Amino acid sequence: MRTQIVIVGSGPSGLLLGQLLAGIGVETVILERASREHVLGRVRAGVLEQGTVELLEQAGAAARLHAEGLPHSGISLAFDGRLHRIDLEALTGGRHVTVYGQTEVTHDLMDKRDAAGLTTIYEAANVTLHDFDGAAPFATYDRDGVTHRIDCDFIAGCDGYHGVSRKSAPERALKTFERQYPFGWLGVLAEVPPADHELVYANHERGFALCSMRSTHRSRYYVQCPQDDRVEAWSDERFWDELRRRLPEQTAANVVTGPSFEKSIAPLRSFVAEPLRFGRLFLVGDAAHIVPPTGAKGLNLAASDVRYLFAGFRDFYVEKSHEGIDAYSSKALARVWKAVRFSWWMTTMLHRFPDTGEFGQRIQEAELDYLVQSRAASTALAENYVGLPY
Ligand code: FAD
Ligand code: DHB
Repeated sequence: MRTQIVIVGSGPSGLLLGQLLAGIGVETVILERASREHVLGRVRAGVLEQGTVELLEQAGAAARLHAEGLPHSGISLAFDGRLHRIDLEALTGGRHVTVYGQTEVTHDLMDKRDAAGLTTIYEAANVTLHDFDGAAPFATYDRDGVTHRIDCDFIAGCDGYHGVSRKSAPERALKTFERQYPFGWLGVLAEVPPADHELVYANHERGFALCSMRSTHRSRYYVQCPQDDRVEAWSDERFWDELRRRLPEQTAANVVTGPSFEKSIAPLRSFVAEPLRFGRLFLVGDAAHIVPPTGAKGLNLAASDVRYLFAGFRDFYVEKSHEGIDAYSSKALARVWKAVRFSWWMTTMLHRFPDTGEFGQRIQEAELDYLVQSRAASTALAENYVGLPY
């Protein structure tokens, strides 16, 4: 088989890139290791920057997002027993974020891909990338006991942190940067109305907590937990009790409890691989970088990589210019590092570290107090939260 671009991975970045390319008549084949059901079963991010929404519009996949997504013009920081609102819209000249689950984004993009009759090969095992340092790359994969080959112009590695693309890059050409955080996030989904109409990020002596949502009747909550904690150790009752202890009294009183239908623990880490291009192979999204979820940036960064790479491919196929693909790595990384910094900063300010102690707690509260009092400091948070310019 031959196609113009092989995309590895049908997460949000691979699907979005495929849809944008279809819009300019560039043909793609997506190779996905898991089944469609498995991809759709993963509960992950929930906050979309305006730029991400615009890109989904450009891909023709934003109708349901506009009908069901919740525009949020502010968030609250909770500390010292009180809520402090950050007015994102007022501080950024009218920008906002949209609460809409990653699962729904993936669903919408998959539906568009199906409707356009584009090829996705699910349960493609042993995906292997060949000859991307030359002019004629190809990918191979196994399915139903047979090895298949796809020749192409380019390979887009959209296969997440554990994928094959980054591992295929020559080791001597790759530089990685990493920080592990000594805790995880325990996340719960429940069919109950949210405690607040906006997101609440809480700093508390017992650890961080986050009140989020998927809709006006579905809540997503997180609490900081030990890194090696096990989901089985957390009954629903224990989770609700711990969440409420970390929230201001009024917010805790508004928490509606109910049976959880998803509960999982995610580790927190910062990771960046450089560069994002190896000949005709490009790394995109989680394949190249991971941020701790505190700034809600993971999915949005994947989308911003897609925006830059799509522009590069458009230059190549429409303008017959290499300029965009040559600039991809440095342009995307400049934005990535700013989001890595923001996510690290939010994580550091809001979580309890092993050495936080009473001194560290007071320093965090002083920083938070300064943040909510100072228009300059609030603006810096708001600008980053709604998404920096491209
Ligand atoms: P992915 O979504 O990881 O998609 C990669 C795809 O590639 C997958 O479908 C995978 O099956 C496939 N694949 C992998 N290896 C291969 C292979 N060898 N061959 C073929 N296909 C392969 N971000 C937030 O902003 N907020 C959150 O709350 C949040 N929670 C998260 C929780 C977890 C447990 C994780 C892992 C991430 C979370 N993120 C969160 C980050 C966010 O979900 C990611 O940044 C986003 O999914 C990145 O999209 P992607 O398409 O680059 O990668
Ligand atoms: C959600 C996740 C985040 O990491 C975040 O910062 C805000 C919201 C969520 O899953 O809803």
